[in-house]
Order: sequence, then structure tokens, then C-alpha cells
Amino acid sequence: MLQINPQRLLDDINTLSTYTEPDTPGWTRRFPSAAYVRGRQWLRERMEHAGLRTWQDAAGNLFGQRDGTHKLSPIYAGSHTDTVMGGGRYDGILGVLGALESARAIREAGITLRHPFVMADYLAEEATDYGIACMGSMIACTHDFKADWLTRKVGDITLREAIAQMGGQPDNMHQSLLKTGDVAASLELHIEQGPVLEAHDMRLAAVSGIVGIRRAIFELSGKSNHAGATPMALRKDPIAALGQMIVAVEAIAKRHARNGHGAVGTIGKIEVKPNQGNVIANHVLSIPELRSLDMAELDAMWAEFMALAQQACDGRGVAVQLFNETRLQSVIPPQWLHEMVLGVCQRLTPNTIVTPSGAGHDTNYLALIAPACMIFVPSVDGRSHAPEEHTAPEDLALGVQALAESIVAVDQCN
Ligand code: HGY
Ligand code: MN
Ligand code: MN
Repeated sequence: MLQINPQRLLDDINTLSTYTEPDTPGWTRRFPSAAYVRGRQWLRERMEHAGLRTWQDAAGNLFGQRDGTHKLSPIYAGSHTDTVMGGGRYDGILGVLGALESARAIREAGITLRHPFVMADYLAEEATDYGIACMGSMIACTHDFKADWLTRKVGDITLREAIAQMGGQPDNMHQSLLKTGDVAASLELHIEQGPVLEAHDMRLAAVSGIVGIRRAIFELSGKSNHAGATPMALRKDPIAALGQMIVAVEAIAKRHARNGHGAVGTIGKIEVKPNQGNVIANHVLSIPELRSLDMAELDAMWAEFMALAQQACDGRGVAVQLFNETRLQSVIPPQWLHEMVLGVCQRLTPNTIVTPSGAGHDTNYLALIAPACMIFVPSVDGRSHAPEEHTAPEDLALGVQALAESIVAVDQCN
């Protein structure tokens, strides 16, 4: 009888949450912080304690494997343990610790899978200050990562140093590649991070699709000058240019949201120099992002935004440079896998729904090389990426039960 251990799961979640930046609201484990490194050291010990053989690939992804009875490609289940600044205790964490708990419960039920099983903690899923999100799964599943990104610095740490700090080998990352056929199927359990399940009194969701995302680092360069003595016609003001870009992101996203493909747009990060009230700024760094389930719509939104950004800068004599531009492909799970996972969820609770994901996930990249799907559990008040992020313990446990049973179901059908 396959039964996960809810208390053991909750104890793991609570222990991992103790690895966080001190003196910050909520929970923070940012790439490549010491808290993130220590949290993964603890996780690796827990994985080995559960009898999994662990390793890190050159991208810094952390894996744990249990062999199966047959020489088949492994079934993967995982997510991420990094967080946003001042985030919560469940985004990503539930998918990693849920995969670990599934491995323990499957063994305790006396079930030996035919496929090898691999659990994964993919490196740096959250959008980093290097402008890249889902970095570990991107490197593992695609050729998208550009070597020249390694020289970019955040503070005084290059991306190359940051990846090495997390246990990766930045100069061998081409070795990390997973190719089609290497993974029998990929499953990811995650909190919904939105209001849909709670609004419909649902406890589980089989995810019908995951948005695509386009983002880049924009560096705008103007001319610092006196805020009072500089006539408007003589200014090169990057903040004014960014202001027009901010309005454009919102207007483009609102217009396309009416199409029903989950179009959204955000500018959540702005750095200004010299950042003083009576000085016209000379430099702005920002990371705009646009999302949609429909890639043609997303590409059209991004092209429109880029043209407006160039116009906003040209019209003010502000230079604009892009760095680390990324394009995350949207995902529709294969029908057979979606129906299998939906069936597992429905057998566990009639309060099961099918819904898309407005958040991006490592599954976006795994889906490029394997059949990949996701299971959601509810987020209280639809909150996430905030200290208020919460999911009821019984829903956390139900989600992990659904993950464990889905792993066994996939094992038996392939
Ligand atoms: O930004 C996202 O969609 C995810 O939470 N990393
Ligand atoms: Mn996440
Ligand atoms: Mn997140």
C-alpha cells in the first residue's frame, strides 16, 4: 500500500526553511548564496539517507537516483530549492522534497520500479540577477545558454564563479546535456501560485499547459546632470525612457490578455544610478518580462515591446543595450501523460481540476527532451513569491501522494 508520510514531509519542509538569509522577511535562498549552498548540502544528506546515489552535473543540478529492475531511461521528478527575495517555503521546495518523500514511500511500500528513478533539485530556477531563470534545467536540456553570459558580474561575482560556487563546472557544461530518450518522463509537483484552485474549492490540478516567457536585462545609459539647471530639451534621461517602457509592458499585456492565452507583463526590477532625487540619472538596469501560453502571441508582444523601448530611448538620446535575453518555450503535456496524472488525482479526490500555469517552471525545459507534466496543489489566497505563501499541510501531503502514485503509474505503463 503506497502511502507517503505527511509528518516526515512537513519536517523536511520545515528543516529546509531554516536555511534562509538572516534578517530578511519571509524565506530567501538566492543563487549563489551560502544559505542556498547549505540548504542543498542538507538536502543531499537527506537524499543519501534515503538510499539514493547522488551527484551534481556540470550545470550544478543536484540529482539522486535509485536503480530499477530494467535497463530503461529513468523517470525524473524534481523542481528547485532556490527562492525569490523574501519568498515562501513551498515554491519549488514542495516538488523537490515531494520527490524525495515519493522515493522513500515507494521503497517502504516494497515497490521496485522497472525504471530507474531520479529526483532533481534543478539549479537557480528563480530569475537571477544575471537575468536568467531555470538556469540548471536550461543548461541540462538545451543549447540556449551562451558562454559569454559567464563573464557577467552581479556585485563582484561573475556567473562562472557563481555556478562553480554552487558545485557546477562552468567550463564543462556542455557535458550536462540530456537528450531526447534520456528521460522516460518528467513530473513536477508545485504549488499553483495563483487563485484558481482555491476559488473553485479544488485540492489537486493536472496542469494543462505552462506559459512561455521572454525576458532580458536592459541597460539604459543617459547623462547625469543637474535636475534644476538642465533644460528639458538638453536631457538624456534613462528613467524617463524606462517610464515609457513600463507603461508599454502593461498596455501590451493588458491588450493581449483579452485573447485568453494568459498574457501578462511585468517589470519587477529597476536599479538606478546615481539614484538621487536632484540628479538626472545616467544609468538604469531593468529586467522586463512578458508571458503567454501562445508562443506566436508572446513573440509578437516582445517584438512590439522592443520597438517601443528603442523608440523611447532614441527619442531621448538614451543608449539601450540588452544582455542575457532568454525565450522560454510554452508547454502542453502529452495527452497520455496528462490523462494518466489526471486519473491519479481524480482517484485521490473528486476536487481535481485541469488548469494552466501562469508561472514558468523547470518543466518548460524538461518538456523539450521528454514527456513532462505537472501537478498543482492550492495556494492560500493565491499568494506566492511572498512570505504569505501558504498551502495547507493536508494539501501538501495529498499532492505528494499524487506525485508518488503518478510515478508508479508511469513506471507501469512504459
Ligand atoms: O517566475 C516564475 O514563473 C517562477 O516562479 N520562477
Ligand atoms: Mn517554482
Ligand atoms: Mn517561483
